[in-house]
Amino acid sequence: MSSLSSFLRFPTLLASLLFTSSIQAQDALSRGQTVYMQVCFACHQPTGLGLPGMFPPLADSDWVAAKKPDRMIRMVLHGLTGPVTINAKPFATPAPLMPPQGPALSDTQIADVLTYVRDAYGNKASAVTPEQVAAIREAEKGRSAMWTEAELQKIPVE
Ligand code: HEC
Repeated sequence: MSSLSSFLRFPTLLASLLFTSSIQAQDALSRGQTVYMQVCFACHQPTGLGLPGMFPPLADSDWVAAKKPDRMIRMVLHGLTGPVTINAKPFATPAPLMPPQGPALSDTQIADVLTYVRDAYGNKASAVTPEQVAAIREAEKGRSAMWTEAELQKIPVE
């Protein structure tokens, strides 16, 4: 019996070590989905498709697919206003305004929701860490205005 249990224990331990990192990623995704369904869904919709002529889609958007999340982190922290172009096409809306979430959401909540958005709706971009959000929050701490597209385009994402 004891040799059987130590035989069974070893692969279990090994498997749990191997799966720890993917379980952590899963946690970030499910936490991020919760934040999405509390904050972002009202405009971008549970489907991530937005509402045509009103709120832009997070599915098939070059803002979301960008290699680095540095523009998305900024627009969630301080908001975004003015005309916006998605996949080289202007997105027409009578209300070009996304409100800032920096004061309401922690670095981890912003990292989680962006990790979720960058993985959902057919997206395949890399995860976002709380450290990345913290560094940008610090770098932009003197800012209060919402971002414009022209300003964000100066932030490298390659
Ligand atoms: C009150 C409505 C509203 C909420 C809430 C909101 N957004 Fe937005 N979002 C917008 C609008 C409107 C734009 C386009 C802004 C513009 O035209 O300047 C936008 C633009 C974006 C864009 C860039 C364009 C695109 O479609 O890819 C991203 C990315 C984005 N939002 C992500 C988020 C995330 C993540 C959240 C939740 C943390 C969120 N938004 C919450 C309304 C909202």
